[in-house]
Amino acid sequence: SNNVNSLRVASSASIAALELADIDWDNLRFGLMPTDYMYIMRCSQGEAFSKGQLQRFGNIELSPSAAVLNYGQGLFEGLKAYRKHDGNISLFRPEENGVRLRMGAERMCMPAPTVEQFVEAVKETVLANERWIPPPGKGSLYIRPLLMGSGAVLGLAPAPEYTFLIYVSPVGNYFKEGLAPINLIVETEMHRATPGGTGGVKTIGNYAAVLQAQSAARAKGFSDVLYLDSIDKKYLEEVSSCNIFVVKGNEISTPAIKGTILPGITRKSILDVARSQGFEVAERQVTVNELLEADEVFCTGTAVVVSPVGSITYLNKRVTYGSDGVGRVSQLLYSALTSLQMGLTEDKMGWIVE
Ligand code: COI
Repeated sequence: SNNVNSLRVASSASIAALELADIDWDNLRFGLMPTDYMYIMRCSQGEAFSKGQLQRFGNIELSPSAAVLNYGQGLFEGLKAYRKHDGNISLFRPEENGVRLRMGAERMCMPAPTVEQFVEAVKETVLANERWIPPPGKGSLYIRPLLMGSGAVLGLAPAPEYTFLIYVSPVGNYFKEGLAPINLIVETEMHRATPGGTGGVKTIGNYAAVLQAQSAARAKGFSDVLYLDSIDKKYLEEVSSCNIFVVKGNEISTPAIKGTILPGITRKSILDVARSQGFEVAERQVTVNELLEADEVFCTGTAVVVSPVGSITYLNKRVTYGSDGVGRVSQLLYSALTSLQMGLTEDKMGWIVE
């Protein structure tokens, strides 16, 4: 596939157009489909990002001693562009990603673009790749901003140079289950994050750290892993790639943000949407016992949207939710969020950026 990539970079638009015509929009999955352009902006340590540019999508050159490769000085973001039924293109709360990137950059000792630069760069990248945005209702254009220490280091220190990059890919459902409920296993040995660590920022190492448990879970037929806190080992944290919610009666609860949990933008939006629909919402410590006794469980994330959980396995005990299919609350919140993102309901919160 590397060959295909470098061919694409060197190729004419007509070759890309053929590939575009080959896409089966009805069966998009969550995987990389190289598009036309990426955005790149660089700056030196101690300076501010000033001007970036679009260039053809392709491999980037890095010193073998780049800080991101050697010491993991890197962050990423994730957001989506949607093609609406009226033909317009929308982004969902992009400034929130810009703010979160800046918070993470502080933790990882990196300079970051301003929120305005971030949103502007996202818009430019989406428009340059407009033809790759799936038709309404068939998926979305996933936007992946990266911020990394690209300068060379050998002794452990912040990099002398930084790169902010954005690439995009058309995507469909994240889990192979599609919109059907997923099956999670609670991990009791490995932890994703610990107090004082970096669990609360979107640093690349947090995601490498979950691969071992995730692979073991997938080998046993589970969709993904749910992590517990590393101190008491009884409070829920999050799933490898998304936040977790439990529903009991009229209450919808999710673990509170306290440095070990990724402050998801979908998480925060779902809390607001649920509140506006008359649910009691709570950000608090949620025990694994409450999870096992919940009426419904679902996950939220940019990539996963709202994913209903069909079963949880904890210490060889399996609990299933509902009889089959998607739970009522998960369905309601999924519909409320996606119809807002697609411009089918009024944007009372001012979350949509055209
Ligand atoms: C997202 O949901 O956008 C993420 O960044 C999670 C990633 C593992 C796909």
